[in-house]
Amino acid sequence: MEFWWRPLLHAAGLVLLFFLLGGASASGPAMAALAALLAGYVLHLLLQLKRVDDWLRRPEQPAPRGSGVWGDVLYRLDKLLRGGNERQQKAAADLEQILYVTGALPEGIVILDADERIVWLNDAAGRHLGLTRERDSGQFIHYLLRGARFLEWLALEDTSQRLTYRVPGGSDRTLSLQQARMPRGQRLLISHDVTEAERLDAMRRDFVANVSHELRTPITVITGFLEAFDEMDAPEPKTFKKHVHLMREQSDRLRRLLDDLLMLARLEGNAEMKNETVDIDLLCRRMLEDARALSQGRHEIQLRMDSRARLLGNEQELHSAFGNLVSNAVRYTPDGGAISLRWAENPSGGGEFSVTDTGEGIEAKHIPRLTERFYRVDRGRSRASGGTGLGLAIVKHILQRHQGRLRVDSTPGKGSVFTAVFPAERLIPAVSAAPRPPGQGAA
Ligand SMILES: Nc1ncnc2c1ncn2[C@@H]1O[C@H](COP(=O)(O)OP(=O)(O)O)[C@@H](O)[C@H]1O
Ligand SMILES: [Mg+2]
Repeated sequence: MEFWWRPLLHAAGLVLLFFLLGGASASGPAMAALAALLAGYVLHLLLQLKRVDDWLRRPEQPAPRGSGVWGDVLYRLDKLLRGGNERQQKAAADLEQILYVTGALPEGIVILDADERIVWLNDAAGRHLGLTRERDSGQFIHYLLRGARFLEWLALEDTSQRLTYRVPGGSDRTLSLQQARMPRGQRLLISHDVTEAERLDAMRRDFVANVSHELRTPITVITGFLEAFDEMDAPEPKTFKKHVHLMREQSDRLRRLLDDLLMLARLEGNAEMKNETVDIDLLCRRMLEDARALSQGRHEIQLRMDSRARLLGNEQELHSAFGNLVSNAVRYTPDGGAISLRWAENPSGGGEFSVTDTGEGIEAKHIPRLTERFYRVDRGRSRASGGTGLGLAIVKHILQRHQGRLRVDSTPGKGSVFTAVFPAERLIPAVSAAPRPPGQGAA
């Protein structure tokens, strides 16, 4: 039903009423009555208009009620307003969601306008580039991020090229920057923090360089002898033997190096560890034997078992870890020194295997770096004693796989204590341990 004919009907009704009241004769009282009716009607319309106006000023209020044509108009207006509100609310909710997601992204995002002024940036971009949304919005990007390489890259037409960007100001971050075009000449800068990846990459390069260097020495020696043999017509048996001996030494060194490298690779590959109940008592006795065999009587070596607890772990790996600590003690302790091995429980209920020596000791500045691959305090000495420089790196990995850690206490000139510490959860208390007579702690 079209609404406009109703007011028409109302007016026609009024005119009809006027005629009925004898308005045709245009008598005075009839005119007055018509004027009063019309005035009343206009007043009613004005009042309705005022209510509508009041409501439109505060549309969150419920719509005023009206009958007839006003009812229709108000109903449609109300529907229109609510529809608009809902759309607005949905758009606001969508925007909030988008901002939340872009805010939570690990990648930094900066929106630039056609003049390369910052329009918006997310939190990650703020952290990466040292920018602040409130302070830097509206600023030209080249005022904030300087450097000829950056500007050249920003001007590139080809947006597929990434830029490796070191943030000025010594934050030590390395970023990989990407750009993308947006509508209306706007541009998107995306930053990825590649600091950690770069560090790992540098470590890998170092490692490969170190390995190549370590391999080259023995191979050069062996090749040298082989060439010398080649040039000899009839090698003299005595020299031949001596040379073969030296060649064997070098190939042993190669084998040790490869064994350690393979061990490290296996440990780093995070291959699943088989857990078993390791008889530490037996393992320590074997360590004692190994140490004595390596020392060949040059050191006083003893073992103290202060706990009979066993350990949940991998026997082969523990053998390798303990073996590395023991062989270091023997190799870095001058003849006549003393070495003692000990298995004990610590106050927090964990287990500790320690190797104490009266060797040369280590200066404090070296201690934090000892478990780095190929880190040696004295390269010559380590090589001369057959070290690969990988022993403590292997120990660290193995202990980590057992949720344990390596503790090093050392005094230069006096000696060192290397302790493998295991958490209480890995300790298996001795079953019905028969009380030991005093003085039986030492073996
Ligand atoms: N018991 C120790 N006494 C003195 N120095 C030690 C001892 N154990 C390890 N070191 C130092 O730590 C370095 C790294 O040890 P490790 O990783 O086992 O490699 P290496 O093959 O050289 O023994 C050694 O080169 C040595 O300088
Ligand atoms: Mg070693």
